[in-house]
Amino acid sequence: MRGQFISFEGGEGAGKTTQAERLAAALNNAGIETQLTREPGGTFGAEAIRDLVLSGTKERWSGLTELLLMYAARLDHVEKLIRPAIDRGVWVISDRFADSSMAYQGYARGLGKDQVESVHKAVMGDFGPDLTILFDMDPVMAMKRVETRGEDLSRFDTESMDFHNTLREAFAEIADNNAERIRVINADADRDAVATQILFAMTQKYPDLAGRLGSDGG
Ligand code: TYD
Repeated sequence: MRGQFISFEGGEGAGKTTQAERLAAALNNAGIETQLTREPGGTFGAEAIRDLVLSGTKERWSGLTELLLMYAARLDHVEKLIRPAIDRGVWVISDRFADSSMAYQGYARGLGKDQVESVHKAVMGDFGPDLTILFDMDPVMAMKRVETRGEDLSRFDTESMDFHNTLREAFAEIADNNAERIRVINADADRDAVATQILFAMTQKYPDLAGRLGSDGG
């Protein structure tokens, strides 16, 4: 049986990564082989592109170059990791996927919806996630989390508050336009409450999972 492809999306500092790890562990514990991955990245080639696109100054890449780098990385990721895994029956959870390109490059960087959609269609065709969990969070709170995380800031973490507000609105609009696929969760809540919302979204989409994922997600 074909595996499922699930993406986690949202702005910076929303706690996606921790929750993606928890969900992958819960699925694996339930006997569903699950692979966790991320974008940009996930394969050797795509991780090399990640280094190029996330380091350096804000001005290093134009919006369109950034979009093309993201899609170059994405194609490698889909061809070498995501599609083969799904074909083997493995479930794949990706920390970000194409909705990030629409939100960041399309809206926040101002390339526009049409340009991102045409690149998407040319590179991905109809391929995409079966389910997307969107982490919605107040950007002021989110940036506080990013600052206290103590990691190196990426080119995107250092953008202005306007950029992050635009991103939040962009993701909300993308969710409205894809209501069948995207489930929005409130990421301001504490970790366990966020995990519960994710498990609820999962069992709505996959009723067979009800009772199998465990209430703590891990
Ligand atoms: P990362 O450190 O993984 O951020 P986060 O923890 O917030 O997911 O860096 C990924 C960055 O790349 C993030 O700022 C969003 C950005 N990005 C895009 O701009 N376009 C894309 O298509 C993708 C996948 C990510």
